[in-house]
Amino acid sequence: MSGFPENFLWGGATSAAQVEGGRCEDGKGLSHLDYVYYRGPKSPCNFMVMDDVKKAREQEATLNFPNRRGIDFYHRYKEDIALMAEMGFKVYRMSVSWTRLFPTGTEETPDEEGVQFYHNVFRELHKYGIEPLVTMIHYEMPMGFAEEFDGWLSPKIIPYCVRYLKFLIDEYKDEVTYWLTFNEINMVTAVPWLGGGIILDRNIRIPQGFRPFAPMTDEFGKVWNHTSHQALHHQFIASAIVVKYAHDTAPQCKVGNMFNLHHLYPETPSPQDAYRAHEETEYNMFFCDVMARGYYPEWILAYYRRNNIEIDWYENYEQILMDGKVDFISLSYYLSSIVTADPKRQERIGSFIRRMNNPYLETSDFGWQIDPTALRISLNELRDRFHLPIFIAENGLGAFETLGEDKTVHDGYRIDYLRSHIQAIRDAIDDGVDVFGYTPWGWIDLVSCSLVSMSKRYGFVYVDADDEGNGTYERYRKDSFYWYKKVIESNGEDLD
Ligand code: BG6
Repeated sequence: MSGFPENFLWGGATSAAQVEGGRCEDGKGLSHLDYVYYRGPKSPCNFMVMDDVKKAREQEATLNFPNRRGIDFYHRYKEDIALMAEMGFKVYRMSVSWTRLFPTGTEETPDEEGVQFYHNVFRELHKYGIEPLVTMIHYEMPMGFAEEFDGWLSPKIIPYCVRYLKFLIDEYKDEVTYWLTFNEINMVTAVPWLGGGIILDRNIRIPQGFRPFAPMTDEFGKVWNHTSHQALHHQFIASAIVVKYAHDTAPQCKVGNMFNLHHLYPETPSPQDAYRAHEETEYNMFFCDVMARGYYPEWILAYYRRNNIEIDWYENYEQILMDGKVDFISLSYYLSSIVTADPKRQERIGSFIRRMNNPYLETSDFGWQIDPTALRISLNELRDRFHLPIFIAENGLGAFETLGEDKTVHDGYRIDYLRSHIQAIRDAIDDGVDVFGYTPWGWIDLVSCSLVSMSKRYGFVYVDADDEGNGTYERYRKDSFYWYKKVIESNGEDLD
């Protein structure tokens, strides 16, 4: 027997902030992502510092906030779910919006209309036999928490968050079996505002010449390192508490982690380069270690000591982590990169290495290198390390696209990308890895997370909207729509 198992969960993924829109409708509050404003077609914007937050507040009436519009899923969810059903989706990976349910995060009880909205979405999905897989927190928190608590840096957020997460289980446990706690939990160490609502320069002056996604000075790097790992720890705690709660109160539910997998090769065969690649791989895996094994591995504790990262551990944290181990591993995977041991060329973005290009790989419009083999290798490594089922929650190709006169997009490049990755997953399954589902990112065009724009498109479905919000928001099937339908129909046998 080889190939995809019979009940394999084929589908697609999105997040609430990037698709819903309906920004203040029916009582919704504003989240920290609602304050990220558009800065141009290739300018990363989800790194916000004090001046950006101030500007977003002061110029709210004139700046462009694409997340507030999304792609209008809030009003069009029935039409979108019908498109998913037409492709034969078995699962839809979506997220719920914290601020639609608890507008400021401090309310004792949730907003009724928000609660009903998600019941409606789940009902519509089940009508077509589509299983919802829900991310509880996909880069979203009430804006007040970012401004008053420094986001996840403060333990004060934990009780509010836990109340929200427990509410989700209590309210939706009969409609939702599969849950993920935090989207790409490791991203808080790379992009503290996005992943943790942290305004990095609140307590330290940003060094002159510093720009987002550039290497940083030692002093600033130290603050960054400490701040982001402390915030991460608080997220681990909140996640473990809710995993245990789900196990105790809704044993039919399965809860997974979610991390961004980046596979790293040594730049040369030198043992030093190989050691660097090993170190970075250990670092990437540690996010899963804590959530799946229930403890901080020795390696990361040594890393913390070496880098003077002192964590305020939280009462009883060891037991909390041990009691809240996830049921499955989930990941996003887009690209691989290479590392060097040469200190002059070794650069970091926060706790992450700066990516270096691999001459053996092709690169997307946005500089992301395409490498399905790395996915196969990593899936094998994850099997050996955790022996847990694996769900591939994100994978896909962002590209600039325009709607043709024939009202479609001939996106053969996307089909090639997905075909090669689906083949790699199939190979990994044949290697003995238990992969139980695959949801390509942005099954429908949506607001890009890093660029906060519509012009980076991932979808099987084109949405007629531009970066400024012009357009009809009508949906159009691309070539990949029909191709993916065939893939699902044949359970991954027909990839042509
Ligand atoms: C992942 C996120 O990092 O990558 C998504 O979970 C995001 O929210 C996706 O959209 C692709 O990134 P981008 O910046 O191309 O939208």
